[in-house]
Amino acid sequence: MSLLTRTESWHRLTEHHARVANLRMRDQFAADGERGQRYSVEAAGLYLDYSKHRITDETLQLLAGLARERDLASWIARMFAGHPINNSEQRAVLHVALRAASPPTEVGEALGRMRAFARAIRNGTLTGASGERISDVVNLGIGGSDLGPRMAVRALRRFCPDLPRVHFVANVDPEDLNATLADLRPESTLFIIASKTFTTAETLMNAQRARTWLGTRIAETHLGRHYAAISTNLAAAGSFGIAEDRIFPMWDWVGGRFSLWSAVGLALMIAIGPEAFDELLAGARSMDEHFRTAPVESNMPALLGLLGVWYTDFYGARTHAVLPYAQDLLLFPDHLQQLEMESNGKRVDRDGEAVDYLTAPVLWGSVGTNGQHAFHQLLHQGTQLVPADFIIVRACAEHGDVEAHRMLLANALAQSAALMMGHDDMAQPYRHYPGNQPSSTIVLPRIDPYSLGALVALYEHKVYVQGIMWGVNSFDQWGVELGKGIARSLLPVLAGQAPVTELDGSTQTLIGRLRIAAENG
Ligand code: F6P
Repeated sequence: MSLLTRTESWHRLTEHHARVANLRMRDQFAADGERGQRYSVEAAGLYLDYSKHRITDETLQLLAGLARERDLASWIARMFAGHPINNSEQRAVLHVALRAASPPTEVGEALGRMRAFARAIRNGTLTGASGERISDVVNLGIGGSDLGPRMAVRALRRFCPDLPRVHFVANVDPEDLNATLADLRPESTLFIIASKTFTTAETLMNAQRARTWLGTRIAETHLGRHYAAISTNLAAAGSFGIAEDRIFPMWDWVGGRFSLWSAVGLALMIAIGPEAFDELLAGARSMDEHFRTAPVESNMPALLGLLGVWYTDFYGARTHAVLPYAQDLLLFPDHLQQLEMESNGKRVDRDGEAVDYLTAPVLWGSVGTNGQHAFHQLLHQGTQLVPADFIIVRACAEHGDVEAHRMLLANALAQSAALMMGHDDMAQPYRHYPGNQPSSTIVLPRIDPYSLGALVALYEHKVYVQGIMWGVNSFDQWGVELGKGIARSLLPVLAGQAPVTELDGSTQTLIGRLRIAAENG
């Protein structure tokens, strides 16, 4: 049996769960008029209401006890101190250093170069080869080199001027790049090749295709004016033909999914400007400080992480919903999917032992109120326990419609209340709502760079807390390698240049059909 399930706290939580599993939140609210206020915490301008959870004071004490027994405080200190906590790769994990008040010299230098580059693109002093202003910036990257900046550009679109426009292309499906380039002109387009490793097949393929497109209008010798790159692999970026002063560094101590704050944020910085980017860093820094110093009982990321463990491992919840009631946070669940599932979707602990408990649930979600007319039915009357995070924004956007914003907030509050309260109708079972579905509500004062920085950092730290509880390494992703290798080996097979015999029967048959399809055009 693994260490986690042998801890004293685990046993006590198991016993406690048996006693409280059937408690009803609505009764707890009725018995405790202070519950809504007592179970809340503020940090970095964000407010978390965690009162609509299937917990008592004792649950919280026991979860805090688990955190202590798992040595959370010292793991937090080790991360901030740069210990090699990514043990399968022997790397430090220092995304927090990217937003520190006094960052390491190389980070400060990189930020300085990013600021100068972003300003020059924004004010038009850095032009394309023909002297034309750069009107469109296309970020070519995938996973962590795409999802964070893509999400943030969408969230902060109110902070973006009309020009330059910033686009994101990730998929190797040529239609992604084609659709983006359809309205663009090579003379006024700049590509940012964002790849920590500079070996990711999709990104390199898109970079190659982009080069061909540029070459239709720009002489080979001038193509460099239309590129920048972000990578740890400076040599590979150089061999692609990108000039040294246009390669922005990354470091192996920044994980892709934690890299928004690094040069991977260059497209975002170009979109919102260096000052707003600094605000994003400041919001994250404020959450870092809270995470580093607050006791576990009032530590927002720790509370979210521990509540997740409570539902996953004691109630057997297999999924977790993230429901932003803000159209501008449309892509936030996508970013969190990689952050949480690539980090903690692990089956062995740090010592390589198979775990005997559930780790990361499937994270999913989308914006309210749309989801209410799609999947909320299952949340209200389905058969599964689905903990949810409601993310709401207090202030209506500048020049926004206050009445519509009020309706949005009313819906968010109604949904979390209905999920918790339920509604009894035994005579008409199809109208019966069992309720007792747990949710957190996170309130942002407004959608701005500072609050977004704090929100993203909140979830980054939640992921780390859960990784420590589950004893897994949240910072590697070996599970993505097998498929990459098979895809490489299938390329010559699909092209008819290698035999199909080494493959399983299903793949062989499918390749047979696909070869026919390719031959028939
Ligand atoms: O394949 C997974 C992954 O390595 C992610 O962890 C990473 O964010 C993404 O691919 C892109 O990697 P890179 O930035 O090296 O191109």
